[in-house]
Amino acid sequence: MASNWSRPEKGGKRDLASGNRNGEQRHRQQPRDDAIPDSNGSRAARADSGFGQLRRVWERLGEDDPFWAVLSDPDKRGGRWQADEFFATGKLEIETQLAAAAARGLPQLRALALDFGCGVGRLTRALAPHFQRVIGIDVSASMIAAAKRLNADLGNVEFRVNPATHLSGIADSSVDFVFSHITLQHIPAPLALGYVGEFFRVLAPGGVAVFQFVNGVDASWRGRFFGSLPTLALNMLRRLVWRRGTVFEMHPMPEAELARVLLRHSGLRVLDAWDDFSAGPGWHGRRWYVTRAANVTETRRASDRNNPC
Ligand SMILES: C[S@@+](CC[C@H](N)C(=O)[O-])C[C@H]1O[C@@H](n2cnc3c(N)ncnc32)[C@H](O)[C@@H]1O
Repeated sequence: MASNWSRPEKGGKRDLASGNRNGEQRHRQQPRDDAIPDSNGSRAARADSGFGQLRRVWERLGEDDPFWAVLSDPDKRGGRWQADEFFATGKLEIETQLAAAAARGLPQLRALALDFGCGVGRLTRALAPHFQRVIGIDVSASMIAAAKRLNADLGNVEFRVNPATHLSGIADSSVDFVFSHITLQHIPAPLALGYVGEFFRVLAPGGVAVFQFVNGVDASWRGRFFGSLPTLALNMLRRLVWRRGTVFEMHPMPEAELARVLLRHSGLRVLDAWDDFSAGPGWHGRRWYVTRAANVTETRRASDRNNPC
């Protein structure tokens, strides 16, 4: 589906094992129960064990070659991304997304933005000129250490390690722009659905949540190939192609389950849902734009703005 909301980046090198294309691999209240959506104990336990593995993988990737782990262009493996070139890709992505949101008059306020799965702050940095305050969250301490080092010049940005399946450090209804890009696609679906529930919990009235995810493979030979193999077999292939022991995984998130998470939260509306190509060839992606009705008074919002977390 064509989209002026979600513009795929054109051209670039492709990496068979990830399907990535040139860079795009590519409170106050307690969090809701859907932070781990399975009420069944054993399923929750499985989700937790997936989380431990996820942390270890991204910890290691952030130590080894963080720019390439974020934007997996094969030509850039081994520390060959230039920082200015790398961060320029983030500026383009954020300007595109903010312009599309602004065309809808959203977000109504620009007090607080949240970048979920911020990596080394490629997109967090690009959000900084547009919001009073930006929080970048990542599961990987090594990624966050690099983000702090690379963005030390920014006064309105905070980076947090979040070794959890929820976002309990962020207050309900406090974030004007929730953003997540090429992150949910790496998280097992039960966990990813929980995080999306958290995006909805923290979204402020008049705010917008923009998040990309993968919902399956496409009809190309690559897609059919990816779809025919279990994750363990794909991981072996990735280890061979990338010549490294630690590899990230791709995890499709069923859109129907996402819709069920949305229904558990009141006052939300899906503005748009577009096909997205950020994950690269072989993978079929989507990008959702969700807003919360601005049903509170300006006085209330002003008080939230002064005390967002
Ligand atoms: C491909 S990188 C994308 C980084 C950033 N969004 C960008 O586009 O520049 C994926 C990031 O998601 C982070 N991540 C993976 N699982 C996560 C989780 N459960 N919670 C927060 N961050 C996570 C990884 O550590 C990694 O930094």
